[in-house]
Amino acid sequence: MQTQLLNITPGVLERAGALIRSGELVAFPTETVYGLGADALNADAVKRIFEAKGRPGDNPLIVHISAIDQLAPLISAGPSPMAQALMDAYWPGPMTLIFPKSGLVPMAVTAGLDTVAIRYPAHPAARALIDAAQRPIAAPSANRSGRPSPTTAAHVMEDMDGRIPMILDGGPCDVGLESTVIDMTGAEPRILRPGGITPEMIEAVCGAARVDEAVMRPLKEGERPRSPGMKSRHYAPKGSLTIVQGDARAVIDRIRALYDAAEGSPIILALDGHIPAYGNRRTLSLGPDAAGMAHALFDALRRADDLGADVLFSEAVPADGVGLAVMNRLGRAAAFHIIEV
Ligand code: TXA
Ligand code: MG
Repeated sequence: MQTQLLNITPGVLERAGALIRSGELVAFPTETVYGLGADALNADAVKRIFEAKGRPGDNPLIVHISAIDQLAPLISAGPSPMAQALMDAYWPGPMTLIFPKSGLVPMAVTAGLDTVAIRYPAHPAARALIDAAQRPIAAPSANRSGRPSPTTAAHVMEDMDGRIPMILDGGPCDVGLESTVIDMTGAEPRILRPGGITPEMIEAVCGAARVDEAVMRPLKEGERPRSPGMKSRHYAPKGSLTIVQGDARAVIDRIRALYDAAEGSPIILALDGHIPAYGNRRTLSLGPDAAGMAHALFDALRRADDLGADVLFSEAVPADGVGLAVMNRLGRAAAFHIIEV
């Protein structure tokens, strides 16, 4: 299959919408990461997503909408007052809410679960594609399963060339990490995957926000996570990654020593302000701070692969605000191999 990489114009959106309606896949930009979209109401189309990604069939997809009135037909009970308050505050935006599903949503989307994850993205091209398709779009991140999520159209091309007919190029994504996933089926919001909408922001609206225990640790043997996506090996670079965490001076000293003692081809993932301290050792930029790191992390992991790095050492940021999402992704990429200094 020939994969077209196209700039977004009204004519291209029309063609992309028609592809979705006919059961094909289209990759598109969102404010978080690129998505791999299919008609959410067509089980056969949705199955193609799992094939193209090599995604395990037990990992459910997020359904994307382009207007609030598209929500009601997809869920079986109206949003709770708390869910409504979150929607008012942060939709459209990088937040996914989990509700009891309606009969309209195929089991192929929810991987057999009786709940469905819904997101109303802020990116104009994502919304225009849903409008053009005239139906909700099921979309995981547009990477091959196990690879870091794509934050540019070029990343999507690396993973999906020859597997899908069309990629819409909307430039680099704003946030750079996937949306915050919040289970709204219980008494209080439970964050299953941290993202750009932080626990602090959720607490400000709901008075409470629980972060699922599985967010900052590896899964135990045989554990069934509330969010099936937490199970699979994710975001992982090809080389082995170690995080060094603590006081900046001590972190730099330790990473320099580890790098100098490493066998094979090592590389350092560092905050911009620290890069000079590594001298002529090989480094990749993580940006200036936690928000910059959200933006830079997945690209840095892909570049480390491109450079053939087989030993990676990364700096860390404090796990609060958007730093929680950054450290969740970095922690999982490192299989939670973390050195405290
Ligand atoms: O920012 C994003 O959310 C991006 C863009 C494209 O919107 N999408 C994305 O999708 O990251 P994906 O498939 O890579 O991650 C979806 C996550 C997975 O961890 C999945 O297990 C979880 O959401 N999920 C989906 N439906 C669920 C459900 N009913 N219950 C619990 N977790 C669910
Ligand atoms: Mg993903």
